[in-house]
This record gives sequence, C-alpha cells and structure tokens, in this order.
Amino acid sequence: MAINQEVDFGTPASISGLQITLDIDGKPVTVPTGTSIMRAAVMAGSEVPKLCATDSVEAFGSCRLCMVEIEGRRGTPASCTTLAEPGMKVQTQTAKLAKLRRGVMELYISDHPLDCLTCSANGNCELQDMAGVVGLREVRYGYDGSNHLSAQKDKSNPYFTFEPSKCILCSRCVRACEEVQGTFALTIDGRGFASTVSAGGESFIHSECVSCGACVQACPTATLMENTVIQKGQAEHSEVTTCAYCGVGCSFHAEMQGSEVVRMVPAKDGKANHGHSCVKGRFAWGYATHRDRILKPMIREKITDPWKEVTWEEAIAHTAGEFKRIQGKFGRDSIGGITSSRCTNEETFLVQKMVRAAFGNNNVDTCARVCHSPTGYGLKTTFGTSAGTQDFDSVDASDVIVVIGANPTDAHPVFASHMKRRLREGAKLIVIDPRRTDIVKSPHVHAQLHLPLLPGTNVAVINAIAHVVVSEGLVDEAFVAERCEKEAFEQWRKFIAEDRNSPEALESITGVPAADIRAAARLYATGGNAAIYYGLGVTEHSQGSTMVMGMANLAMATGNIGKRGVGINPLRGQNNVQGSCDMGSFPHEFSGYRHVSDDVTRALFEGAWGVSLQSEPGLRISNMLDAAVEGTFKALYIQGEDIAQSDPNTQHVSAGLAGMECVVVQDLFLNETASFAHVFLPGSSFLEKDGTFTNAERRISRVRKVMPPKAGYADWEITVKLSEAMGYPMHYAHPSEIMDEIARLTPTFAGASYEKLDRLGSVQWPCNEKAPEGTPVMHIGGFVRGKGKFMLTEFIPTDERSTDRYPLILTTGRILSQYNVGAQTRRTANNLWHEEDVLEIHPFDAENRGIRDGDLVSLASRAGEITLHARISERMQPSVVYTTFHHALTGANVVTTEYSDWATSCPEYKVTAVQVHLAKHMSEWQKHYREKRHATTRILNESSAAK
Ligand code: SF4
Ligand code: SF4
Ligand code: SF4
Ligand code: FES
Repeated sequence: MAINQEVDFGTPASISGLQITLDIDGKPVTVPTGTSIMRAAVMAGSEVPKLCATDSVEAFGSCRLCMVEIEGRRGTPASCTTLAEPGMKVQTQTAKLAKLRRGVMELYISDHPLDCLTCSANGNCELQDMAGVVGLREVRYGYDGSNHLSAQKDKSNPYFTFEPSKCILCSRCVRACEEVQGTFALTIDGRGFASTVSAGGESFIHSECVSCGACVQACPTATLMENTVIQKGQAEHSEVTTCAYCGVGCSFHAEMQGSEVVRMVPAKDGKANHGHSCVKGRFAWGYATHRDRILKPMIREKITDPWKEVTWEEAIAHTAGEFKRIQGKFGRDSIGGITSSRCTNEETFLVQKMVRAAFGNNNVDTCARVCHSPTGYGLKTTFGTSAGTQDFDSVDASDVIVVIGANPTDAHPVFASHMKRRLREGAKLIVIDPRRTDIVKSPHVHAQLHLPLLPGTNVAVINAIAHVVVSEGLVDEAFVAERCEKEAFEQWRKFIAEDRNSPEALESITGVPAADIRAAARLYATGGNAAIYYGLGVTEHSQGSTMVMGMANLAMATGNIGKRGVGINPLRGQNNVQGSCDMGSFPHEFSGYRHVSDDVTRALFEGAWGVSLQSEPGLRISNMLDAAVEGTFKALYIQGEDIAQSDPNTQHVSAGLAGMECVVVQDLFLNETASFAHVFLPGSSFLEKDGTFTNAERRISRVRKVMPPKAGYADWEITVKLSEAMGYPMHYAHPSEIMDEIARLTPTFAGASYEKLDRLGSVQWPCNEKAPEGTPVMHIGGFVRGKGKFMLTEFIPTDERSTDRYPLILTTGRILSQYNVGAQTRRTANNLWHEEDVLEIHPFDAENRGIRDGDLVSLASRAGEITLHARISERMQPSVVYTTFHHALTGANVVTTEYSDWATSCPEYKVTAVQVHLAKHMSEWQKHYREKRHATTRILNESSAAK
C-alpha cells in the first residue's frame, strides 16, 4: 500500500447504535444501522473496487465501480450509496460484476493519458490500482482521448497543479472543498463527456480557493497533485508529526525521501484535524530549509560590529561568561530568559528551569504574555484551570456558537472548517467583532447575529448580555446552586442587574443596538448547548482578564459548562502557546500553574533540581525592558521569539534591548531582535527535533524528528549546554526524559509519557491517575477549584481614547496565508497572497480624507507613525481601521501603545487611537528600518568576507 493511503470504508453515513446482520459473499456480518454495503463488505473482509468514494466525504455514487448484486433486487446498485439492511444477501465478486466493472474501467482509461510510468502519481494512484483490481488488460475504444487529453494544465497555484487531462470526474475534489473545507470553490461544469472540474470558471489562484489542499488529498489520480511530488517524485517513508504554526495542532505525515520532505499530508487519525489542513501546515514548510537560515553560532562585542562565526563551544562559553560577569557586576536579578511558544514543551520547560536553577532568579517570561495571559488568569480565577474547557470535537454537540474577538477562518482555519460544518448542520452563530469577518457570512453559513462593537467595549457587551440573562429570568438556577459559590453569585447577580449594565444603558458605549444584545442573550441562554470561542480580540485589551471572567460568568449562569457542546474555548495563537504556559514560563509560576511562593511546590522542585529557588516572582517581559532602560537589567536569553517585531511600542522595546550588555537570540533566522543581539545561536525547526506541542484544546501531541538538526543541535540541547556552562549541569539523553521529569513534577501531566503518546496518538491534560487517557471536556460534575466563582466585571473604559488629533481606532489581526511576524511564511510562496500589510479603512473615513484604494497613507498614533497602502473595505465600521503585523517593514507595533491588561500586562494591541492621512513618503521609522536592514546585510556580507 502506498504511503499514507489509508483503508477506506465507504462513507459512514448516519450510523446509529442499533446493529443489524446481513450476509456478504456468504459471510454473516453485523454492522450498525446506517452502514453502507461498501463499509459492511470491508468489515466482512471483502474489498469492493471503488473510485468516487473515500472516507473523508459523503458517498456520491458516480463511478459505478462499486456495484454489487443483492438477492431479490434488480440491477447492480452502488455499494457506497446503498445502506445495509437486515437479512440482505450481497454478492460483491461475481463474473457479471467483474465484466461490468471492467467495462467501466475501460471507459475511464480510454479517456486517460497512458503515461503511468512517468506520472507523478505512479505507485500511488487509485485509478491505476483499480485497473489492476478489476483485471483490465485491454481497452477496446482506442485511446483517442478527444474529450480531455488536450485540456490545459492550471499551474496558477504555487503549491499544486491541476491537470484536467487526468481527471476522471469522480467529484471527490468538489465534495472535499464543500464538506471538509467549507469553501465551495469547485464545481463540475458542463455535461456528459464535456464535463470538467472548474474553480468557478477561474484559475485556481483567482478563484475562492484558499489552498487548503483538501481537494488534492481527495483526488484519486494525479489530476490535482502537489508540485513537490511532481518535481521530486513519491516519498519513500513517512513520520507522524505536528504542525508548527497555529494552536489547532494539526497532525501530519511528513512524507520523506531520505531526510528531505516531499510533502506534508494531514493525518486522518489526527484528533485535532481529522485529516484536514490549511495552506500553512500543508504547504508552507519550505522555510525550514530556507537559505536564510543561520547555521553557525555567531558573536560580536557591539551590535554595530560585524558578526563573527564561532564554534558552538566558543559561543556557549562566551555567553555563560558574559552572563556570569553581568550577574557579578549588576546582581543576580540583572539577567533573564524568554521561552518560545514555537518550541516544544520540553524545550520550554528547560529554559524556565535554567533561569530558575542556573540563573538563580525567576526572570522568565513567554510570548503568551502578549496574547493569552488573560485567559490563564481569568479561567484560573473562575474555574480553577488556566485553559480552554472543551476538545474541538465538542463543537459537534453545540447548538449555539458564539465567536468573540476571533477570526477563525484566517487564524485557526482547520477548526473553522469544523465549526462551519456544524453551522451548516443547523447550529446558530453569534459573532461579536468590530469587523465583519468571513465567518459572519460565507457559503451556506450566515451568522444569526453580528454585534459590531466598538473596539475596547468587550466587557460592556458581555455585561449587557449577562444583564439580560439575569433580568429576564434565564439563569440556570439549579446549575448555579449546585456548582457555584453562592455568595459570589449573589453579589454578581446584584451587580449585573443594575440598570447601568443594561443593553440600553450601554448602547452608546458599545455601538451595538440594545435589541441585538437582547436577542444574542436569549439565543445563548435558551438555544440549547451554547459554546463560546474567542481569540486575541478578547485578551489583548486593558480589560482582557475581566472579559475572560465575564464570559466564564455567563457560561456558569446559563449552565453552559461541564458537558459537550458548551464551554469557554480560547483559540490560542501559536502552536505551543498553551504548552509554554503549562510548562512554567511565567515569572510567578512553576509548571502546572503553581505559584513560586507556595512552599510545598517550591520544595518539590528544589528537591528534584537540587538547588534552592526564589519565592518571589521575577520580572515580566515589559518589566525586563523597563529595567533595561533604567540600567538595572543587562542580559537576556531569548529562545525563538522576536520581541522587537511582535511586542508593542517598538521604540520602547528597541531602547530596552539596546540598553543591555548581552542579548542572546536563539532562532532560525536573523530576526529583528537579532539586530540588538551580541550572540546568535542557530535554532532548529520542528522537523529537526523530538518533543511535544500542546494545542488550544490541551492536546499533547508528538513532534518527531525527520531530519538531523541543520546547525548541529536541537534547541533543547543548546539550553542544556548553556546551563551546564553556567554551572548547573542537566542530564538528558532524549526529550522523553524531560517529559518524564515534567510528569513527575506536574500533577496535570502526571500520566503523560512518550510511550502513551505513541500508543494513543495524543492526550489532553489533565492526564493523571484519575484520567489516564486524558480529559477532553473539563469541569464535568464540578470545577477544578471546587465551586465555580463568579467575579464582578465592572466595565472600565481604556485610557486609550480617540481624540480630535487621533479620531480613529486601530485594531489588528492576522490573515490566513501569513503567520504572526511572518518569519516562516514570508519565506514561502504564501507571500503571493499577502505581499504587504495594508490598512483596511471604511469608505466613509477614506472619502473624508481623500483616500482611494491603494493609496499610500500615514498611520499615526501618539506612539509613532508608519506608512502603508490603504484598502477600502466595508468590512470595517466607520471610525475603525485595521491592519496586520506580518511584515517587519510595516512596523505595525510602532504605533501600538504601552497600555496593557490590568492583571497580566498583556498589551492592548486591539485599541490604538490613530489618525490616517494621505502620505507622500515612507515614514521616518520605515526609512530608518530600511537603513538598519541594509546595515545588517552589510554586516553579514562583511562577516562572510572575513571568513
Ligand atoms: S485547495 Fe481547498 S479551498 Fe482550494 S479548491 Fe481545493 S479544497 Fe477547495
Ligand atoms: S480532479 Fe481528481 S478528485 Fe476532482 S474530479 Fe478529477 S479525478 Fe476526481
Ligand atoms: S490549522 Fe494551524 S495547525 Fe492546522 S495546518 Fe493550519 S496552521 Fe497548521
Ligand atoms: S465508489 Fe461507489 S459509485 Fe463510485
């Protein structure tokens, strides 16, 4: 069997629990009602030939290859679309069927190029396989191929080619695009022999296609084929690993030739993605071997000096020497580290361990600080656990889906497809977002309510919804009485019932009509199972933590927690942002969210690590930068983060970094932060190491090494070396040993091990004695903290207000094809879809300023000014503008401010008062940036010349 070609069983259809028995080829077989004859035949050990059926889409019954004979029935029905019935007697292999099948195959082959030996699918083609299965030896109709053989290839997509001459019109691609991806980009145009697959009459690149690859995967022939396979040929072996982009955590087969990736194919048994993918994980992996990768350690005395390549030994010794010198001169707390949400759990665990045990302080933080730290705070306070409550599959049981401050079709595309499937089945949708995001209206999905609130008014909206629930008697009193702290609830009920929290009172603040808020509240509270999914549009605000608690209050008040189909579900951004938080990356917590001041926990770690540990929390990233500007913080080890591009108020970040004496950047590429670095340690991609990632649903999945680290070491090995040079040796032969230590020290991971992950595929924490195979849905029967705690959520407007000088509000977000700071995706063909960040502006605001689509405009806030091109868009509401932050040259964070969440310091990226006007030239910041990049290139060239 070809690599990753899994056994198909025909479509499961609507299988119920009732069992029936039938006879297939003389053998009795018992199957659930709703099972197709094709599936029943497989269960009985009879393989029925097929072409148009595959297990990822509903049966269609077009190819006729799977016909069978059924006693007492006329004709030869298709087994993929005919359901098994009790007592049925089915024959799958008769002489009559064989003849008919050969005839069907003959017709297909007569209109198919006979270039099997040179075809890219050779050896992995279902048409070829089926010709063999039905025993086709000759084709009587001649190979004229007049209908399709001359059809032109469509090579417009950078990642796959459509070669219509090879198409057998099985329609699997069309159905995959509809049923799996939910984009509906493909149709079958024309009739009879003139039929052809069409991307809406356009080339693929100009169509609605989002390059998810579902059609390519579904295609049984070489008609839709990955360009890498066309160029390199079929793979020789494969390994299961996990995507290193977003928090969905899709499982993939990395298909390889030797140590070279040929293609990434989504795993059908991947529990987060069920065989689906998006353009990033499926196709945009070329960055891992991009020529820009730095493969030698480098050091320099001053950041204006050329880099000098050194050996690993020299780089590690130099770094440790500098760190020790600085601690000797400026004190123990003058250095710190930042862990990476791109790296594995094991690597993150080691960085925080090194900081606490080898640096001797708690100055460790992570990029979750700037995205989902309010999630941790808010959910821990109300429920007792800093993580989302459901597994992704729980959405299948949702009747009402609320999407708040999230753009899942762009940022979490595979889960968005799953959610859209549920919406097409009839679940209701409420979207709370300043922009009309794609999920509001897409093919066969239409939000019942879109509440386009003004940025910065989330808490007012959630309070108004809760007010309706309380004042209209929609509270689930029984749930609250049984599951929640009584006194806290009563206080909250009184607070939320106050008139000032009513939709009418808040309408002028939120911009959302009171009637819509009331309708949303009623639907959420009475529409059946209601689930909230949210993103950075919730957390990246001055009241991010308050909003998370507001959503938790609402879920508890309506009993929408602790079962399938409900819950509070953060759509976490980066591949391992959940994991980096779990692993103790915050300055106040050990792994498993236990405070460093807790004597029992500290004693546990001190015993295991053989050092004494600090009981005071260390510095957060923002505190480190402040202290650096003040001159008391002098050295920073940064693993896989680019804070100079990703963190707010770029000027302040730059000043902090420039004030340090030793900045160490460990990364794949010379990123923006590396401009301030004294040491560069080459990092390793996800393909070059073993480990685990934890996705947004707390799912721990294996990352498997498919090629040796290009620079010699995996990231965890570099941390081990540095720690040892700092005087604190670590002894691990393999990342599985780090996981074993994590399990020993972290109650929620107590049952996790590589052996278990290999056996089960993945597990969701808590994974321990009580739940040895993990916990898909949390808080069933009781909250982790005991009783759920309602919190008062007073709406306090942000200090960042629009003024006469800055009358518009800027909000930011991501798009499908690029990823965060773009370090990976900008080094792939994904640039084709998003070459630059643009400013989306409502036609009204544009017209007032004389701005036309495509004009260069200035975007200025009190923090700074940048220029970018305008895109006039009715997705925006008047007075709100929007941009992405994927390109360093844009410098989106030059304009964002220093305001942050009151509880966690998560920056308020989503609300910046700005002015926009036509620009003639690039901003000063961007000119400076260009010069800096030229200088970096010059320094690199000088470094190479000096070699
Ligand atoms: S790549 Fe995805 S979106 Fe594009 S046509 Fe295929 S299934 Fe549809
Ligand atoms: S492109 Fe492939 S999947 Fe689509 S109809 Fe043709 S053969 Fe079938
Ligand atoms: S949805 Fe996320 S995890 Fe899945 S393939 Fe896309 S980027 Fe990777
Ligand atoms: S596989 Fe059943 S009709 Fe094609």
